[in-house]
Amino acid sequence: MSWTIQPLPLAGPLFDGAVRVYGDAFAEPPYLDPDRGAEVRDRLRTTHSKRRGFRALAAIDGPNVVGMAYGYHGEKGQFWHDAVARRLGREGEARWLDDAYELVEIAVAPGFQSRGIGSGLITELLEGLPETICVLSTRADSLAHNLYRRLGFEEIVEMLFAPGGQPFYVMGKRLK
Ligand SMILES: CC(C)(COP(=O)(O)OP(=O)(O)OC[C@H]1O[C@@H](n2cnc3c(N)ncnc32)[C@H](O)[C@@H]1OP(=O)(O)O)[C@@H](O)C(=O)NCCC(=O)NCCS
Repeated sequence: MSWTIQPLPLAGPLFDGAVRVYGDAFAEPPYLDPDRGAEVRDRLRTTHSKRRGFRALAAIDGPNVVGMAYGYHGEKGQFWHDAVARRLGREGEARWLDDAYELVEIAVAPGFQSRGIGSGLITELLEGLPETICVLSTRADSLAHNLYRRLGFEEIVEMLFAPGGQPFYVMGKRLK
């Protein structure tokens, strides 16, 4: 293992590298989305980094960023939180969302996947969090849910975030 994990700053070469990695990972199947890098850069700077409990990490190999991950404490009024709460109903919301850290984004550079970097980023991101639960969503047609299962996440529900859109698994893991 030649890579290390560091806090991700919100400007500079590490930040630019993390955005590039994210864009490259989501340009691959099943996403094939050329705009995701620019989108995550803007969302990170304008909104997501300002949310309570924001924590972001980069995986570095030599001079290169090869992975990134971030999340924050989810709250009512946020799109993802409210959409999942509606789908879960009051009891499910209380169980899974009332005190939850949301793992919002994770990406590893295509040439560096399946070497344990994603697992390392998630493990470190969740280390010592004050929340009792971690939640995330992942496209049902991606392999990523296998990784989350291996790390102790269970499938809570399958749902769409947009009419006619892709199905997602919402997954959760107890942290304490
Ligand atoms: C998902 C992802 C972050 C995992 O990082 P990683 O460093 O490859 O993860 P690890 O090496 O710790 O674990 C490997 C596992 O991740 C999953 N995985 C590997 N490549 C993947 C890919 N291209 N897409 C999704 N999941 C992948 C598999 O379950 C794999 O297990 P396997 O090696 O037994 O097949 C990374 O593959 C990635 O960036 N994928 C594209 C973007 C993405 O799907 N992000 C998650 C959205 S919810």
